[in-house]
Amino acid sequence: MPEHANRFAWTLGGITAISFFLLIGSGILLVQFYSPMPETANQSIRTIETEVWGGSLIRGVHFWASQAMYVSALLHMIRIFLTGSYKKPREGNWLIGVGMLGLVTFAIFTGTVLKWDQEGFEALGHNVEIGSLLGGLGFWFSPEFAGQISILLRLYGAHVVIIPGIILVLVVLHFLLVKRHRMSPHPLLPAGTSTEQAAEAEPTKPFTHHIRRLVAFGIALTGILGILAVLLPAPLGSTPVPGIEITKPPWMFWWPFTLENWFGLSAIVWGELAFFSLLAILPFVDRNPKRWWRRRPVAMGVALVLLAVLVVLTVLLAVTPTEVHL
Ligand code: HEM
Repeated sequence: MPEHANRFAWTLGGITAISFFLLIGSGILLVQFYSPMPETANQSIRTIETEVWGGSLIRGVHFWASQAMYVSALLHMIRIFLTGSYKKPREGNWLIGVGMLGLVTFAIFTGTVLKWDQEGFEALGHNVEIGSLLGGLGFWFSPEFAGQISILLRLYGAHVVIIPGIILVLVVLHFLLVKRHRMSPHPLLPAGTSTEQAAEAEPTKPFTHHIRRLVAFGIALTGILGILAVLLPAPLGSTPVPGIEITKPPWMFWWPFTLENWFGLSAIVWGELAFFSLLAILPFVDRNPKRWWRRRPVAMGVALVLLAVLVVLTVLLAVTPTEVHL
């Protein structure tokens, strides 16, 4: 592997993968004690917290690993953007990445519902309403889809099998494509073909060196998540009260919630659709062959405007009292 691929910014994809494996490991332990029934779900998490040996730590690691996966996937995507690594021939892998980001977002949403506390219940309420707004497309989210089976149980299935299963398949494809195209060349060094680094431009290191670094990062990450789990335990509210709205969703959903405050529920759908569509079309509309961010003022300008909009909408929700949402 070219030397630049061992820099921290170029290992963010690997760190995302490590967070994902930590989520699978801690998730497997949690499903042994979690009950996906509306009557018992919230209480079963309390039991995990108080009566299962190490339960609170495992739950905390699961919660913090989800945050780590989301943040590292975003930072990984920003690195790919800044180094122009989504350009030909890596457009397909960019699209797979966009799909995985959507699935990670959906996993965080379904995980929030599983707590079956006020926050989870209100998140589900939004989901059911959005489902009905989407008509036929949202049918899966309607309670009528499977009358005998509660929507909580179906979202549980999605959270523990469907979503991680699809992510796993996509991660394998993602890695195979990285192997096939090789790590993208450093944008400031002379490239050989557009696919890989010119051999003489930079020394190479064996792949095992990269893996050793990732293992070290993985151990450090596990330690950090463990400390966070002890110092800042995963949140859990009391059993939900239907018909009221008193919580805010997890922070990654704050920007669409500001849109909802302004324009109503459908703005969440349009906002998310616009965000993911913009990401998906990027490699196909940006045909500038330059890779280094300083030489791509238009792409950088558009990205900065998008980032500013997301940050402002997020901060606005942070400072808006929840009652406004009603
Ligand atoms: C969500 C889980 C994800 C995992 C586990 C993951 C993992 C990885 C890994 C290990 C690499 C090798 C290079 C590196 O580590 O920087 C990589 C490369 C790549 N990823 Fe991801 N990634 C994820 C999400 C994304 C997202 C959200 C995007 C973009 C929307 C993306 C687009 C790409 C592209 C285009 C490459 C090739 C880059 C290059 O060769 O420099 N990935 N990914």
